[in-house]
Amino acid sequence: MLINRSVEDQAAGLRRMVNPKPVKVIAVSSGKGGVGKTSASVNLATQLAGLGREVMLFDADLGLANVDVLLGLSPKYNLSHVIEGRATLEEVLIRGPNGIHIVPAASGIQRMAELSTAEHVGLIRSFSELSLGLDYLIIDTAAGIAEGVMSFARAAREVLVVVCDEPSSITDAYALVKVLNHDHGVQRFHVLANRVRSPQEGHELYRKLARAANMFLDLTIQYAGAIPDDDLARRAVQQQKPISTAYPSASASRGFAELARRVEKWPLPNAAEGHLEFFVERLIQYSIDSGGA
Ligand SMILES: Nc1ncnc2c1ncn2[C@@H]1O[C@H](COP(=O)(O)OP(=O)(O)OP(=O)(O)O)[C@@H](O)[C@H]1O
Ligand SMILES: [Mg+2]
Repeated sequence: MLINRSVEDQAAGLRRMVNPKPVKVIAVSSGKGGVGKTSASVNLATQLAGLGREVMLFDADLGLANVDVLLGLSPKYNLSHVIEGRATLEEVLIRGPNGIHIVPAASGIQRMAELSTAEHVGLIRSFSELSLGLDYLIIDTAAGIAEGVMSFARAAREVLVVVCDEPSSITDAYALVKVLNHDHGVQRFHVLANRVRSPQEGHELYRKLARAANMFLDLTIQYAGAIPDDDLARRAVQQQKPISTAYPSASASRGFAELARRVEKWPLPNAAEGHLEFFVERLIQYSIDSGGA
């Protein structure tokens, strides 16, 4: 389906209204479930906010232990209310640790592909009207290669793939990278090894994935670091707090702090590509192209 001219015009008009600052959009994904995507998303967001960055965390996973559960939040509204015009994006956003802005998980995400023209424009407008001056948008996706995950990863451009030393974690991560690269043209991947028992284990997990990916695919795959296996990470989940603020000196927290410092060094997207509205447009367009988010 092609977006009609008036929608394009409106979107272009909206783009001109906004702050030209580019936003780093990072999708956090994994091949296998339960490897630590939500923990990584929440803690990366918290750490970046601790460095003084303006961060939005988009919960794109409708699974059980999603962002609001991990942080003990009970959102009143979600994205589906924005799509239906019943709330503004600012009303939907809730504040999390270190002042991060959270877009709670929403059934609305699955409707991305079916948005009417008015809803489409409304959603782009709601993102362009945000007066937050964001530096980062971090998207916690579901595991695997479902279409919804593909749409977010394609629209984001930077994909952080979380792996751990469990059977099938690397083969499933390879399958994810392959589909994103081969079928969806994603070229930049970053690997985060979670729950490692030594720094060497992190490097080894990265090497296994990078070796397989570089052999068959045209992409860059970089090491984003490792997070130690840490009992306090489990305890923080039970306490519904990010380990980074609950136990800042824990080994996993130090790992997330190092991850944030590395992410800060990733190059900024070029200005034209880095606008939040472009991300939303790409997201909607890809959802439409693939026939469902
Ligand atoms: N570094 C760590 N050390 C110890 N335990 C961890 C660590 N990271 C995550 N965990 C544990 O693993 C569990 C799963 O983590 P998390 O919910 O972040 O994974 P996920 O990839 O988002 O899962 P899903 O695929 O279900 O969305 C957490 O509840 C926590 O107990
Ligand atoms: Mg999760």
